[in-house]
Amino acid sequence: MNLLFVASECTPFVKTGGLADVIGAVPKSLAATGTQVRVLIPCYPALAAVAAGGKSVMEFDDLFGGPARIIAAQADGLEMLLLEAPHLYDRPGSIYLGPDGRDWHDNDLRFAALSFAGAQIGIGCLGDWVPDVINAHDWQAGLVPAYLRQHDGLTPPVVMTIHNIAFQGVFDATRLSALRLNADMFTPEGVEYYGKISFLKAGLALASKITTVSPTYAAELLTPEFGMGLDGLLRARQADLHGILNGIDLDVWNPETDAAIVSTYSARALKGKAKNKAEIEARFGLTSGTGPLFCVVSRMTSQKGLDLLLECLPDLVGQGAKLALLGSGDPDLERAYIDASNSYSGSVGTIIGYDEDLSHLMQAGCDAILIPSRFEPCGLTQLYGLRYGTLPVVARTGGLADTVIDANEAARLADCATGFQFAPVTAHGLAHAISRCCNLYQNPKAWTATMRRAMRHPVGWDLSAAAYLDVYRSAQER
Ligand code: ADP
Ligand code: GLC
Repeated sequence: MNLLFVASECTPFVKTGGLADVIGAVPKSLAATGTQVRVLIPCYPALAAVAAGGKSVMEFDDLFGGPARIIAAQADGLEMLLLEAPHLYDRPGSIYLGPDGRDWHDNDLRFAALSFAGAQIGIGCLGDWVPDVINAHDWQAGLVPAYLRQHDGLTPPVVMTIHNIAFQGVFDATRLSALRLNADMFTPEGVEYYGKISFLKAGLALASKITTVSPTYAAELLTPEFGMGLDGLLRARQADLHGILNGIDLDVWNPETDAAIVSTYSARALKGKAKNKAEIEARFGLTSGTGPLFCVVSRMTSQKGLDLLLECLPDLVGQGAKLALLGSGDPDLERAYIDASNSYSGSVGTIIGYDEDLSHLMQAGCDAILIPSRFEPCGLTQLYGLRYGTLPVVARTGGLADTVIDANEAARLADCATGFQFAPVTAHGLAHAISRCCNLYQNPKAWTATMRRAMRHPVGWDLSAAAYLDVYRSAQER
């Protein structure tokens, strides 16, 4: 099967969150099933070197305001299709935000262009390679089925994957013709959403099949609390909605070989983990306490519940535990954690920023990872935590609920616990889970057994890659 991925980011080239890791990892797992995946993403400056080694396979005289072309290149084991459109993507800084911290003013055109190019490939414009199925990821690729619908002739089915329904790509209705959408697409069955245009809504309404990144999130999305205005549409399409759990790239996230950590280790030989811990304590200025070292590696937004953790800090520090936080986002939260590092100097350390290597070192060096998300479609950092023996302490929501086995009495008797879950998602609930984790840490034998179990828990892509393949096949049969 030929499969086209359309997405806005891809590890290791350009990443702001888990979407990139998934796009970079799934094609490799699908290759083992005989599926040939090509990944279409914008040619941001970070991809210039990859583009330089590729070859031009398609040209546009005018793609939403300027000339553009698609460059095919192989890099890092992936078949990339880079959409080079300097007027849209050749900009310094964030791929989504301008220097003022707000969305680029033309994000509608930037990602309409990505979707349009995906649809062009879908109708065979590359000539020698035509996708049997297109998998469009998140709102940035949501218009792919809309542009295909505007084409007279055979088009491939589209599978729309929701990584996070909080981002919907909503723009003013006056943009319809600028986005090259026909007037008859502006209906509740098409791109219209409460009088505006929504890219994600269009994708969900027009795709053959819909997937999201965990079974629990698939169920949550059908409720007003989690569906964020799209729950009605998703209930209507429930028969076509599939929750497929994310996995992780076991080569990139491997404590036995990871080049970004100070000392490698394995479930059998755990000794090396201590050296990574010493390095984290030194880097974050953590000196006090005999309790566990917790970490957070996260975007700092209200989704991630880090305000709840702030409320728990007196309790956490009071139990002799420590916290190392790496993240960036909401300026108020950033400031609050910097203040907390000053108030609890030696026990709480904060590094504001984005640092891929440090994120690996934190997974290797910490005892436990805190993920108190209010909602979490899947979450990847708890999976990295499992693989590195860094016990996840997670809110019982979305993919967090599906991947961590809570150390309750039943799980302990059955020897299957891999971490801690809490619900409801409140500061009180989180504080209780932190206490349970601190208690287990005081029992080194039980703690080590839990670490080893966590490290052996399956977190790869095999099962999920097979589930995606089933969805692609059923989309083809329609
Ligand atoms: P989301 O995609 O909602 O941000 P995920 O848990 O799926 O959440 O993925 C987050 C990814 O981004 C993980 O790979 C995580 O390690 C990484 N990440 C988040 N914040 C940072 C940071 N400040 N520095 C380095 N990596 C980070
Ligand atoms: C989104 C979600 C996250 C998920 C990731 C990859 O960013 O917030 O939960 O793991 O996509 O699917």
